[in-house]
Amino acid sequence: MNKQYHIMTFGCQMNERDSELLAGMLHEMGYEPTDDLNKSDIILLNTCCVRETAENKILGRIGDLKALKSKNPELILGICGCMTQQAETGENIRKRAPHVDLIFGTHNIHQLPELINRVKTERKTVLDVWDTEGDIVENLPSKRIEGVKAFVTIMYGCNNFCTYCIVPYVRGRERSRNTADVVREVRELAGQGYKEVMLLGQNVNSYGKDLDPKTDFADLLVELDKIDNLSRIRYMTSHPRDFNDKLIEVIASSQKICEHFHLPVQAGGNNVLKRMNRGYTKESYLELVKKIRDRIPSASITTDLIVGFPGETDDDFAETIDLLEKVRFDAAFTFVYNKRSGTPAAQMEDQVPNKVKKERIQKLISVQNKISQENNLTEGGKIHEILVEGVKKDDPERLEGRTRTNKLVLLKGDPALKGQIVKVRITETGTWHLDGEIIDKD
Ligand code: SAM
Ligand code: SF4
Ligand code: F3S
Repeated sequence: MNKQYHIMTFGCQMNERDSELLAGMLHEMGYEPTDDLNKSDIILLNTCCVRETAENKILGRIGDLKALKSKNPELILGICGCMTQQAETGENIRKRAPHVDLIFGTHNIHQLPELINRVKTERKTVLDVWDTEGDIVENLPSKRIEGVKAFVTIMYGCNNFCTYCIVPYVRGRERSRNTADVVREVRELAGQGYKEVMLLGQNVNSYGKDLDPKTDFADLLVELDKIDNLSRIRYMTSHPRDFNDKLIEVIASSQKICEHFHLPVQAGGNNVLKRMNRGYTKESYLELVKKIRDRIPSASITTDLIVGFPGETDDDFAETIDLLEKVRFDAAFTFVYNKRSGTPAAQMEDQVPNKVKKERIQKLISVQNKISQENNLTEGGKIHEILVEGVKKDDPERLEGRTRTNKLVLLKGDPALKGQIVKVRITETGTWHLDGEIIDKD
């Protein structure tokens, strides 16, 4: 029997995509995937450090795996991803968790095969984390998550240095993939039957600035929109500061780019936005939202929000609630500010007490939930194009899919509809999902 591997992925879609590449390399080495940790010959934890909660969860998992390693000393246990890329973390894991065999970072995942060989020959913990990013490595093998959607990384790293955020330190500077490489990959995916692609980057609006000749995200979208047999193009994440008129125009006139705008605002007060180094004001953000809605009235808009940033006053928080009520987002990911060591915000005075942070997040969530529910209520009776993603995991009677505006819709239907676009009438609405009935197939 072939040797088996298991990868646990934490964090964002960038990590999900990296895990697909790690899986691809393991396949080429003759390993097969398994969900059974007891049968695994290799276990990799692809980690995230954006907030302490994520890190604590991972440290807990590393501890749990000690027992497995004692039972099976041949097991190779590897830790990679953003967490190991932080100063001293790799060394700390080596010291405190000697049962870990391999520690590597975000910049050298392409080295996995040789790192595994080193573990086998050196028989001591291999720690190899690159300080800086190397060139982009194209054509790595990849084993994608099965389904109708595929992740395509278009750029790596981030140059924005929002003062709360660890990502630029662990993912390095912005590097764009060549347009020809991205177009080729998306064309291949469409040929393999993927109906939707999600273009990935921490700030996709910066795409192409570092290429020679320079290009931009809007031009990339124009090229991708021409690809046959592809139904939908999404992207994540776009920065409100760089979302220009050209991009809105390209999206409005395209066939495939979905009318969903995930525009993380983070806060509503200008003082806080300034200290976060976000590069826009509440007013310019509201102006952007207006422009999008004027040009694309069916657009859905979602966001990310942080409460309790250092120095956030009651008035600042009231500005965030006011922004929520003005924009009326379809959905929001809400976070409590978490101090990340090495970031400028961690050194700022006036850290907000936990009790206040808790009160604010509860208020924020309740205001947003009400808005999400009210927005969804207006969907009742509407007709939407749904891309069927498959049978709902915990309810084999129902299929699930998404509208172009990224709303989750549950419906009854033949599982063979997976991967097809169907026309659906919305029959019920809730805060988190809609129910619908099929009225027409492809
Ligand atoms: N590049 C994306 C952007 O700028 O919108 C976001 C990437 S980050 C992985 C996802 C979200 O995590 C951010 O939008 C922010 O709301 C949140 N986040 C990042 N650092 C945080 C921190 N130190 N504490 C709490 N939330 C944080
Ligand atoms: Fe972090 Fe800001 Fe970069 Fe997003 S844009 S990854 S929040 S530094
Ligand atoms: Fe986490 Fe790294 Fe993504 S820190 S959110 S996995 S870029």
